[in-house]
Amino acid sequence: MVLRKFLTSVLLATSTSAGKLVLHETRSTAPSGFVSHGPAPPGDLLTLRVALTSNHVAGLEEKLTLLATPGSPEFRQWLSMAEAPFVKPSPKTVSAFRTFTSRNNLTSTVISPNEDWVSISLPVSRANQLFGAQFELFSHPSLANNLTRTLSVSLPSELVGHVDVIHPTTAFHYPKTRRLRPVKSDRQLEKRAGSGSPPGSCNTSIPSNVMTPACLQALYGIPTAPATQPNNTILVTGYVSQWPETIDLAVFLETFRPDIPANTTFTLVTLDNGTDPQTPTAGGIEADLDVEYTIGKSPSVQIFRFLSVGGSKFGSGFMMDILDTTTYLDSLADADLPTVMTTSYEETETAFGISLATKICNNYMALGSRGMSIMFSSGDAGVRGDDGICTDNTFTPLFPASCPWATAIGSTIGFGPEIAVNFTGGGFSNFFPSPSYQTTQVAGFLETLPMEFEGIFNSTGRGYPDVAVQGWQFSIVVDETVFPESGTSLSTPTFAGIIALINDQLIAAGKPVLGFLNPFLYSNPTAFTDITIGYNQGGFCPVTAPAFNATAGWDPLTGSGTPLFAELLATALA
Ligand SMILES: *[C@@H]1O[C@H](CO)[C@@H](O)[C@H](O)[C@H]1NC(C)=O
Ligand SMILES: *[C@@H]1O[C@H](CO)[C@@H](O)[C@H](O)[C@H]1NC(C)=O
Ligand SMILES: *[C@@H]1O[C@H](CO)[C@@H](O)[C@H](O)[C@H]1NC(C)=O
Ligand SMILES: *[C@@H]1O[C@H](CO)[C@@H](O)[C@H](O)[C@H]1NC(C)=O
Ligand SMILES: *[C@@H]1O[C@H](CO)[C@@H](O)[C@H](O)[C@H]1NC(C)=O
Ligand SMILES: *[C@@H]1O[C@H](CO)[C@@H](O)[C@H](O)[C@H]1NC(C)=O
Ligand SMILES: *[C@@H]1O[C@H](CO)[C@@H](O)[C@H](O)[C@H]1NC(C)=O
Ligand SMILES: *[C@@H]1O[C@H](CO)[C@@H](O)[C@H](O)[C@H]1NC(C)=O
Ligand SMILES: *[C@@H]1O[C@H](CO)[C@@H](O)[C@H](O)[C@H]1NC(C)=O
Repeated sequence: MVLRKFLTSVLLATSTSAGKLVLHETRSTAPSGFVSHGPAPPGDLLTLRVALTSNHVAGLEEKLTLLATPGSPEFRQWLSMAEAPFVKPSPKTVSAFRTFTSRNNLTSTVISPNEDWVSISLPVSRANQLFGAQFELFSHPSLANNLTRTLSVSLPSELVGHVDVIHPTTAFHYPKTRRLRPVKSDRQLEKRAGSGSPPGSCNTSIPSNVMTPACLQALYGIPTAPATQPNNTILVTGYVSQWPETIDLAVFLETFRPDIPANTTFTLVTLDNGTDPQTPTAGGIEADLDVEYTIGKSPSVQIFRFLSVGGSKFGSGFMMDILDTTTYLDSLADADLPTVMTTSYEETETAFGISLATKICNNYMALGSRGMSIMFSSGDAGVRGDDGICTDNTFTPLFPASCPWATAIGSTIGFGPEIAVNFTGGGFSNFFPSPSYQTTQVAGFLETLPMEFEGIFNSTGRGYPDVAVQGWQFSIVVDETVFPESGTSLSTPTFAGIIALINDQLIAAGKPVLGFLNPFLYSNPTAFTDITIGYNQGGFCPVTAPAFNATAGWDPLTGSGTPLFAELLATALA
C-alpha cells in the first residue's frame, strides 16, 4: 500500500516537470528484509556521489582486449597512468554538469583522481525534486541505522549521456556478518602446536581432508622458494571491520611455513578510518585467512599490503567501500600500483544495481589496462548469491565476480580426483554480456544443460568463475589456534599467491607482469586440470538441490579448472 502511494507521487513529480526528467534506474521493491518507514525527512542532508560519464569506455575495452590477448602485437604493453585517459569525463560532460550545478545552486567537489566522481550535498526535498526521487527511510533487522534510499531515480534531460550513476539512491547494502569468530567450545580446535612440521599430511579422504600450504604446493606444483622482486605488491582487501592479527600470521607461518621467517608481515594501508588495532581477539577470521593464505603462498617481506577499509562501520556499506578502493588504486603512481589484488567479499548484482556495478566494473577494466590482476571469490552459496536465500526459481549472480574485467575464483575439494565442492559460487551475469574471451567455452557448456534450466538464469551473461582452487577445510590460525575453514575465500588468496609468484619470475626475467588475466587464462586450457565431477547447490528451492554440474571444458563451478603451476609459468614466460 505504502509503496503504491510513493510510486504515484514519483510519477506526478516526473510529469509535472513536463518531460524534463528521464528515468535512470528503478527497482520494484527494496531487497528482502528491508522495511520502509515512509518518506525521509525533507530537511535531512544527503551527500550524493555522481559518476560523470567517462569519455571513451569503448576505446578502453578495445585497448585492453589488445593488451591482454596472447598473440596481439601489444600483448602486455600495460599502460602508464598518463596513457590511460579513457576514464576521465569529456570537457563537454564536465561543462554540462557544471551548468546543472550552478543553475541549481549546488556545489560539487571532485572526489576521484580521474575526475569521474563528484560529490554534491543537498536536502532530501531538493534531491527528490531534481532527480525525480522519493527518498524513504529503510530499516533492516541487522542494520544499526536506517538507510535513506529511493526505489527510482531520474536524470534531468540535460544530464542524460553525461551522468552514469547517482549513489546512494537505488543500491542497498546488506549487513555483513560473515565469518564470525569461532566459538571455541563447538569447534574441533587443534591447540597451538608450536613450530615444526604441519599437522597431518595431505589427507585425501573427502570430507575429512585437511588443506595446508604444503598440500597446496604438492597438489599444484607451487614452488617453495620465496619471491625475490621488490616491486611486486599484492594487495589484500579487508572490509566490514575485518583486520588480520600479526600474531596469528606469525603462528601460521611458524606452523605451516617454517621455511620462511615468522616475522614476515604486511604493510597496513587504511581508508575511511579503517584500522587494525591488534588487540587480542579483536581481529577477524576473514582477514586472518586471507592474509595467511596469500602470504603463505608467496612469501616475501616487501610485497604485501593489507588494505583496511572502515566505511562499513559508519553505515556507508560495502558498495562505498569497494568504490573507495578503486579510487585509492586509481590514485597510485605506476611504481606503487599493486600487481595483484585479492578480495574475498561480494554482494548480489541486484543489491548494486546495474549502473553502479557497470561503473565499478569499468574501473577494473582501467586498472587491468595498467597491469593489475584483480581477483574476487565466486561466493559460497552455489547459484544463490552469498546467503543462499531461495525466494524464487531464478539464480542470483554475485558482483564483482560477475564483472568480465575481474577474475572470479571457485572452489574444489579432494585430490583423487579433484572435484567441484557443492557450495562453490557460479553462474551468469544479468548485467554483463559474455565477453569474447569466453564465448566459445560458455557456448560449449550451455549445450550440456537439460531443458528445465531454460529461463532460470541468463544464458547470454558473462559466466563465472574463471578458475578454481581447493576450498575445503584449510588449516587457518585465529586467536593463535589452528582450525579448519572452508570457502571460496580460501581459494581466492591462494590463486592470487600463485599469480604473484608467476609475476615475480616475469619481473626477474625483465618481462611485463600478467595484468588482466582472463584472455590469457582462457587461451591456455592445458595450464589447468579440467574438473569434470561434482555439482553446486541451489538449482531449485530448497537450496540444497543440485544446480550446475562440472563438465568437460569450462563450467560455471570451476571455470577452466585448477592451476598447474609449471604449465602456467611456462606459457606466461613464453
Ligand atoms: C539560486 O540562488 C539565487 C540567489 O540566491 C536565487 O535567486 C535563485 O532562485 C536560486 N535558484 C535556485 C534554483 O534555487
Ligand atoms: C528508522 O526511522 C523510523 C522513522 O523515523 C524510526 O521510527 C526508526 O526508529 C528508525 N530505525 C532505526 C534503526 O534508526
Ligand atoms: C557439501 O559437501 C561437503 C563436503 O563433501 C559435505 O560435508 C556436505 O554435507 C555437503 N552438503 C550438502 C548439503 O550436501
Ligand atoms: C584424515 O583426516 C581425518 C580427520 O582430520 C582423520 O580422522 C584421518 O585419520 C585422516 N586420514 C589420513 C589417511 O591421514
Ligand atoms: C620499483 O619501485 C621503485 C620505487 O617504488 C621505482 O623507483 C622503480 O622504478 C621500480 N622498478 C620497476 C622495475 O618498476
Ligand atoms: C625478522 O627477524 C630477523 C632475525 O630473525 C631480523 O634480522 C629481521 O630484521 C626481522 N625482520 C623484520 C621485518 O622485523
Ligand atoms: C572518520 O572519522 C572522523 C572522526 O570520527 C569522521 O568525522 C569521518 O566522517 C570519518 N570518515 C569516514 C569516511 O567514515
Ligand atoms: C541478460 O543479460 C543481458 C546481458 O548479457 C542483459 O542485457 C539482459 O537484460 C539480461 N536479462 C535479464 C532478464 O536480466
Ligand atoms: C547433472 O548430472 C546428473 C547426473 O548425470 C543429471 O541427472 C542432471 O540432469 C545434470 N544436471 C545438469 C544441470 O546438467
